[in-house]
Amino acid sequence: MALILDGRAAAAAIEERLAGRIAALKARGAAPGLALLRAGEDPASVVYVRAKERACARLGILSRTIVLPAEVGAPRLRETIERLNADAGVQGILLQLPLPGHLAQEELLGAIDPDKDVDGFHPLNLGRLALGEPGFVAATPLGILRLLQHYAIPLAGRHAVVLGRSRIVGRPLANLLSTRTDETDATVTLCHSRTRDLPALTRLADILVAAVGRARFVTAEMVKPGAVVVDVGMHAEPDPRRPGKDRLQGDVDFEAVEPRAAAITPVPGGVGPMTVVSLMENTVLAAERALERAAG
Ligand SMILES: NC(=O)c1ccc[n+]([C@@H]2O[C@H](COP(=O)([O-])OP(=O)(O)OC[C@H]3O[C@@H](n4cnc5c(N)ncnc54)[C@H](OP(=O)(O)O)[C@@H]3O)[C@@H](O)[C@H]2O)c1
Repeated sequence: MALILDGRAAAAAIEERLAGRIAALKARGAAPGLALLRAGEDPASVVYVRAKERACARLGILSRTIVLPAEVGAPRLRETIERLNADAGVQGILLQLPLPGHLAQEELLGAIDPDKDVDGFHPLNLGRLALGEPGFVAATPLGILRLLQHYAIPLAGRHAVVLGRSRIVGRPLANLLSTRTDETDATVTLCHSRTRDLPALTRLADILVAAVGRARFVTAEMVKPGAVVVDVGMHAEPDPRRPGKDRLQGDVDFEAVEPRAAAITPVPGGVGPMTVVSLMENTVLAAERALERAAG
């Protein structure tokens, strides 16, 4: 039986620690504020933004949600971002992805002030991470690291295999895990759709992270006995036990892989809550840095 890496419990423990930092900021008149910017009504995005609003409310972070119509033009979205960049009451800006197809995602992410880029998707912050310099680390990779830390799972010198090389998960995670710090220092293999003989590589993993975007992609034969398995995938599919309702499924075939693994994240309740709490952590960090800058 594998140890279940409970993201809800880990996130609750992190929230407790963040509460102290938020109280300290408020005592200095610098309550953290997060702007959540959404374009269109993509149902998953609506749910994710709501989860982020709720986390802000629990922690006493001021959140402001701005919803623009799906057909919004790039100039108006850019103008909204620039207004938030200039707003001293906002320390963090999140542009919910995916954007409607006609908008150039890279360009708009690049319009966010890097000091307020709490999602860590600005090229400057992605570059800082690649170089091992301080910046903002994208929320899902940071959440995965925090979850492994919560369960005292060592990374140094171990082989982490990351499936997927997206801007928001795989690529920054590979950089984060291989960064030279006592808490990371893993040897990382980054895999993608052109990788040859994927199972041969995944079977070498001490830590296997699946961010492929395909339900039940990772099967038992792909996992080394005793590996730590982190499932980033999220797929809504009809729940056979509750007709008319959906359930969430990950990129890992949990039932088949769990008996083989030393530890594994569930879906839901694994990486998802860690992503949200890491966004909160980045917002608090942004507010602390803004205060430091203001103090000169
Ligand atoms: N829990 C959370 O908080 C959270 C946050 C973000 C995302 N997610 C979920 O995580 C999953 C991944 O998201 P994403 O945005 O990173 O996905 P994405 O942008 O679609 O990227 C998927 C990656 O997987 C690779 N891939 C696809 N098929 C493959 C195959 N057969 N073999 C090996 N690699 C393959 C792709 O390779 P190429 O680059 O070659 O195309 C790509 O790099 C999704 O299910 C998403 O919903 C969850």
